Amino acid sequence: MKRLYSIVLILAVLCMGVFAGCGKADNTDSSTNADISVDTLASTDTALKTEADEIGDDSARDIDKTLILYFSYSGNTWQIASWIQEYTGAEMIRLEAAEPYSDDYDTCVERAEKEHHDQARPELKTDVSLISDYETIILGWPCWNYSCPMLIRTMLEQYDFSGKTIIPFTTSDASGFSGSLKEMKESSPNAIFEENGLEVRARDVAEAQGTVDEWLLSLGFIQK
Ligand SMILES: Cc1cc2nc3c(=O)[nH]c(=O)nc-3n(C[C@H](O)[C@H](O)[C@H](O)COP(=O)(O)O)c2cc1C
Repeated sequence: MKRLYSIVLILAVLCMGVFAGCGKADNTDSSTNADISVDTLASTDTALKTEADEIGDDSARDIDKTLILYFSYSGNTWQIASWIQEYTGAEMIRLEAAEPYSDDYDTCVERAEKEHHDQARPELKTDVSLISDYETIILGWPCWNYSCPMLIRTMLEQYDFSGKTIIPFTTSDASGFSGSLKEMKESSPNAIFEENGLEVRARDVAEAQGTVDEWLLSLGFIQK
């Protein structure tokens, strides 16, 4: 009888050990999983917050609804537009006058001065009626006579930019936007002009790709 008790006692102790072991294994696994989940969520959350902080509140620009429009006489503004296109992957259109500006610099300057003085609206060769498909227009021009080329005003008055966001960029020898934004708002009073525009000096254009990328990131564009 004493021997029977001993066997039962030994079996009971063994069972308790096995159950205790199982319980411990389960607890360890679940706490490990819980730790991983919390850590993963925490790091994902931090990553998202960091990205959002970097790109500001205007995140997730719809690139299919974004169009790059630019005018360029000697290539500087084209270079900036090309980097914007490279970064965003957005569609891009070059604006041209029906009567091209002379390749002779002085002749071009003379015509541009007269057009500005007369507040002329030179005819546009480029058809931009497709802007109706877009919500955001990244619009670039070279500073001419402390403003935009009058061709830009022709376009703003000929087409309906109401409710569209215009993100401006310009290149110039020194003047930056000067009077251009004020005059452009007169031409298209119902467009929404983004205040965070980009001005690049002609002498800095060759080295400006990094500046362009940073500007686009600050506007909430994601590199394609
Ligand atoms: C007709 C004309 C007028 C200009 N007027 C100005 C001006 O008022 N202020 C300025 O800083 N640069 C002026 N510039 C210089 C251009 O804005 C500058 O070189 C610009 O980067 C040229 O861009 P693009 O190569 O895209 O044409 C003028 C250039 C031209 C051809």
